[in-house]
Amino acid sequence: MTRPDQMTLLKSARLSVAPMMDWTDRHCRTFHRVLSDHALLYTEMVTAPALVRGGARHLLRFDPSEHPVALQLGGSDPKELAEAAAMGADEGYAEINLNCGCPSDRVQSGSFGAVLMERPDIVAECCAAMIDAQDVEVTVKCRIGVDDQDPAEVLPDFLARVSAAGVGRFTIHARKAWLQGLSPKENRDIPPLDYELVVRMKEMFPHLHLSINGGVASLDEAEALLERGLDGVMVGRAAYHDPAAILSQADQRIWAKRGPRPMDDVIEAMAGRIEAHLADGGKLHQVTRHMLGLFSGQPGARAWRRYLSEHAPKNGADAQVLRDAYDLIKQAAETAQNGENKALEDI
Ligand SMILES: Cc1cc2nc3c(=O)[nH]c(=O)nc-3n(C[C@H](O)[C@H](O)[C@H](O)COP(=O)(O)O)c2cc1C
Repeated sequence: MTRPDQMTLLKSARLSVAPMMDWTDRHCRTFHRVLSDHALLYTEMVTAPALVRGGARHLLRFDPSEHPVALQLGGSDPKELAEAAAMGADEGYAEINLNCGCPSDRVQSGSFGAVLMERPDIVAECCAAMIDAQDVEVTVKCRIGVDDQDPAEVLPDFLARVSAAGVGRFTIHARKAWLQGLSPKENRDIPPLDYELVVRMKEMFPHLHLSINGGVASLDEAEALLERGLDGVMVGRAAYHDPAAILSQADQRIWAKRGPRPMDDVIEAMAGRIEAHLADGGKLHQVTRHMLGLFSGQPGARAWRRYLSEHAPKNGADAQVLRDAYDLIKQAAETAQNGENKALEDI
């Protein structure tokens, strides 16, 4: 599939899967794409210095079947980001996103990520340079503020300045990042969520495309936020840990398209992707580690996770491991069904 057009990209942005380091790699995205044709997928953050100075172009590798897929960049040097954005566009990404929300130490010392909430002029300059350097849409993912900033003041100022540089689409993680004293993980849970502020931003900036992110645990919650006038919802951990609940249902509920793909088809589609990956010299576990949550909450889920975790990393493991693990789910479903029938007989 070639790069999707702007209309398709905007439609997809109604529901996206968040960029997540070490999680949303190309194998994860391939899996998510098998579950949903339409959700917008993001890469893990790739830093501009790694691409431009480190020669790490291989980090941009992706399969066009993942589309629509957006590349997230980290950095704070306009020239370097412009060069990295051009590389991303050249590689075929549908969107280039600048990370202004990640609070990790490593990222702070490089002066990018959430610290950029304190430097909207730099962000504007970076975005202008990225827009100038290539033709793909440039977007920003940010927080509502950091440390002792007042979000009600800094967020509108940030949006105004960065949109004046030509950015029309933002994803706002609806909580502050506390740059001192909290780990990146704690920074995803402890600072309180403020959805109301993000909803107010949409009222203040109706011409901007605003997606909300943070703590969305179900499609019901995503739909409720869309009904409040937001243009998009980005889901991170829930989509990763329970992809069937979020992504399998999304095409029907968010875009009024096809219903969930039958699980037999999902497994066979993934077996095909796995065979291609193994033929390319890859390892089974690199793909299946992202699939552990596929049957979350269903009979056999634990046996599925255990079987994959134990057998997929073994030398020579192939797609049959996936099929065997799926047999455990089918057996568990049958046992549960028989139990239910028996219970009904006993009534
Ligand atoms: C393992 C992990 C890695 C993350 N890596 C990134 C990243 O590379 N770039 C980014 O902007 N946010 C990153 N985040 C934050 C998510 O994109 C998202 O903003 C956050 O998890 C809140 O959304 P959620 O509550 O739906 O998970 C990461 C989150 C997790 C759990």
